[in-house]
Amino acid sequence: MAVTMHVCVTCRGQDVGGEDRETAPRAGRRLHDALADAQRREGGPPRFRIVEVECLSNCNRGCSVALSGPGRWTYVYGDLSPALVDELLAGAARYAVTADGLVPWRERPTIFRKGVIARIPPAPKPV
Ligand code: FES
Repeated sequence: MAVTMHVCVTCRGQDVGGEDRETAPRAGRRLHDALADAQRREGGPPRFRIVEVECLSNCNRGCSVALSGPGRWTYVYGDLSPALVDELLAGAARYAVTADGLVPWRERPTIFRKGVIARIPPAPKPV
């Protein structure tokens, strides 16, 4: 499994306020757990790994995830929420079947078109 989706579990998101902000699970944690649960429910071998991470330096536009894999462009996405699990899984699955991480624009889910924060080229091969 070459592709990884890193999910920031420390993002607070926009949907929790007041006292709940201190006690409720963070939106990023809820997003990660919802993604992992949904992937398990799909059954079969997963097409990519879901890995938690603390902060992707996109705190003002969280929830945040990053998609990466060897030889592929890396993408960081923001403005996400636990309600977007199905779109995220579909977008990541589409990314996972590419050789270079470049999904044609029209085939990207709307949340990936609007929420892209950065794209980073594949690491160069050692010389
Ligand atoms: S806390 Fe999630 S990007 Fe910083």
